[in-house]
Amino acid sequence: MACSVTKMLAALLLFVAGAFGQQVYIHTHGPNTPSACKANPTHPAFGKTPKYEYSQFKFTNTETVRTASPVPTFSAVSQYAPHYSQVKHLLPSLSTTSWGNWYAHPTKAPIHDSKDPYGHFAYSQLWENAGVPNFTSRGLYSTTVRPTPVPTSELVFPPPLLFESSDCYPVPHDFILGVAGSAAQIEGAIADEGRAPAIPEMFTFLPPGVAATLGITNLSPNYVTDENYYLYKQDLERLASIGVKYYSFSIAWSRILPFVFPNTPVNSQALAHYDDVINFAISKGITPVVTLHHFDTPLQFFGDNQTEILINSNTRCYLGTTNLGFQHERFEDAFVNYGKIVMSHFADRVPFWFTFNEPQVGTVNGLSIDHVIKAHAKLYHFYKDELRGTGKISMKMEIPPGVPLDPSQKSHVAAAAHFNDLQLGPFLYPLALGEDYPSAYKMTVQDYVPLSKADLCNLKGTLDFIAMDVYTAPIIFPVTNNIAACAANNKTSNALYPNCVGVTETTSNGWLIGQPSNSIQMYTTPTYLRTQISYLWNTFRAPVMITEFGHSTNGTANPPQLNAIQYDTVRSEFYISFLREMLKAIWEDHVHVLGAFMWSFVDNWEWGSFDSQFGLQYVNRTTQQRTYKRSFFDIVDYIESRRSQSPR
Ligand SMILES: *[C@@H]1O[C@H](CO)[C@@H](O)[C@H](O)[C@H]1NC(C)=O
Ligand SMILES: *[C@@H]1O[C@H](CO)[C@@H](O)[C@H](O)[C@H]1NC(C)=O
Ligand SMILES: *[C@@H]1O[C@H](CO)[C@@H](O)[C@H](O)[C@H]1NC(C)=O
Ligand SMILES: *[C@@H]1O[C@H](CO)[C@@H](O)[C@H](O)[C@H]1NC(C)=O
Ligand SMILES: *[C@@H]1O[C@H](CO)[C@@H](O)[C@H](O)[C@H]1NC(C)=O
Repeated sequence: MACSVTKMLAALLLFVAGAFGQQVYIHTHGPNTPSACKANPTHPAFGKTPKYEYSQFKFTNTETVRTASPVPTFSAVSQYAPHYSQVKHLLPSLSTTSWGNWYAHPTKAPIHDSKDPYGHFAYSQLWENAGVPNFTSRGLYSTTVRPTPVPTSELVFPPPLLFESSDCYPVPHDFILGVAGSAAQIEGAIADEGRAPAIPEMFTFLPPGVAATLGITNLSPNYVTDENYYLYKQDLERLASIGVKYYSFSIAWSRILPFVFPNTPVNSQALAHYDDVINFAISKGITPVVTLHHFDTPLQFFGDNQTEILINSNTRCYLGTTNLGFQHERFEDAFVNYGKIVMSHFADRVPFWFTFNEPQVGTVNGLSIDHVIKAHAKLYHFYKDELRGTGKISMKMEIPPGVPLDPSQKSHVAAAAHFNDLQLGPFLYPLALGEDYPSAYKMTVQDYVPLSKADLCNLKGTLDFIAMDVYTAPIIFPVTNNIAACAANNKTSNALYPNCVGVTETTSNGWLIGQPSNSIQMYTTPTYLRTQISYLWNTFRAPVMITEFGHSTNGTANPPQLNAIQYDTVRSEFYISFLREMLKAIWEDHVHVLGAFMWSFVDNWEWGSFDSQFGLQYVNRTTQQRTYKRSFFDIVDYIESRRSQSPR
């Protein structure tokens, strides 16, 4: 089979002059090189038992204060595709317009353009029909806030905690350390500057029972979140100051195209907004990384019927829990149209693209997956063959690889393989390898759409790397000796369907590990991470990027004192232990790990509440003030102090 050969363009270098006044915590070459133990009991120079002796006492271990130093001047930015003006002929001619804000009743929609299907009246109707509950007030801000430099007093390293016992591996010079967030969870401003309604606003309609299965307890709508739509400059300033170099964010489809479908007008305010996010990030030495869809399907895929919209406990969702509209007959074309518009505008400055975030969550049937993988491949080919982009594209996977509870038992190993083939297989086999859907998937989702040879040829090789969101490890054990019979029975009475394997949160000796049911607060599984990324690298034969990892604490239960919130050692322990195992995977297992993105750079709205907080910064919900937690210092320091010099 001859798949089209992708022509690559060498990245062009653009020169920009830059001298920036902001402070950055991390020195270019870390101050804190990890050292091997000085007294090595296995070395002949040291005795096998400690030597006890008196000496002149002196206080030496007092706090060393390390603070910010000026950000290094950077002088060149790469260009990854031609500028929009040179590629706009690849798109059908676009009309742009702007809609401004929608205000809830009693302000009535203007009716002067009520005949225009895409006018202000029509835009207001989208919101009236959505009936967003309790949408009355906006946030503190209504216009972009000018950033202020982070004071040096906020950039003092906390007294060190020595998590790094027995580690000696350097971080590869080109390893990417970044942070991630998503539009619906941080932006707020949901009805501002032409944004149309999307699924996340409807999460408040979740039946409480369904919400509980997602770990959401204090279900409450929040349309303000972190107000990052107006505070992005300050957020980026703070990231630059703590030493972060990569920022992964998602673009809201319902901002770019309020009327969603092809041949509808593009929102000029949305284009200008994301253009400025990208340019401001670059001006601070931060590389932007873009996701096109992060659970925020525009509401127009669901008509006006809210009952249809959401997770409905009576609906058998195959892999995921939420109906994200992927199965809609117009989804694939509409998504490709949206993706082409965004890529052609921003691909010159963005080197990493993700089409979908965790599509498993939103797949309700075989058609959903068919649309997702084919839309992905179409955008991949558009980017590589038509835009001639030189960056990299992938799709962020949910459900990290499961590991067998007892790897010495064949049935446990087979159960884990079934789980992985079912959850990751329908995406990764066709897209990474050009191989057909695995049998675990075909036997479970009987209405799957068969892939032809031509389909597989088109899908093959459209992941430049495997993108995995990994918070924990599903620990898998068998629950039936006939998985095939269980998988074939899709009736609601079959409680084992669709996985047909068991997932546990305790080891065989009863220690808590993994993800407990009914909560998204997890137990750390660092050693499993090494197995998981090795599985991905060796099975799908592509570099691995950890596109999200993180640990949540209960934000609602936060102590009242700010410095108690900042202490945050649980998160430091999570990150450092994961990163240490990741370095073992790189150096001992020879797995190519491109980078890791921490979820998340601020406490945010976790789809229905602020109970679960994954932030490296605390957000005061009254003032929107951000505060670095100690984990942020610990992690950046851990990576940057171990980074090798570039071989050049
Ligand atoms: C809307 O607000 C009212 C009054 O505060 C409250 O009783 C109701 O539960 C809220 N509705 C939703 C869906 O949050
Ligand atoms: C909305 O969808 C639900 C579930 O499919 C259906 O039972 C109901 O009749 C629909 N309502 C309307 C007004 O179409
Ligand atoms: C459920 O299983 C039956 C029997 O195998 C099959 O005919 C049907 O297509 C399945 N439903 C879906 C939605 O796959
Ligand atoms: C978080 O803490 C609040 C307040 O203590 C409590 O009501 C809630 O149940 C906790 N949530 C979880 C998921 O533990
Ligand atoms: C959040 O801000 C309010 C208002 O300024 C303040 O009273 C409160 O103490 C702050 N909370 C924390 C944890 O700092």
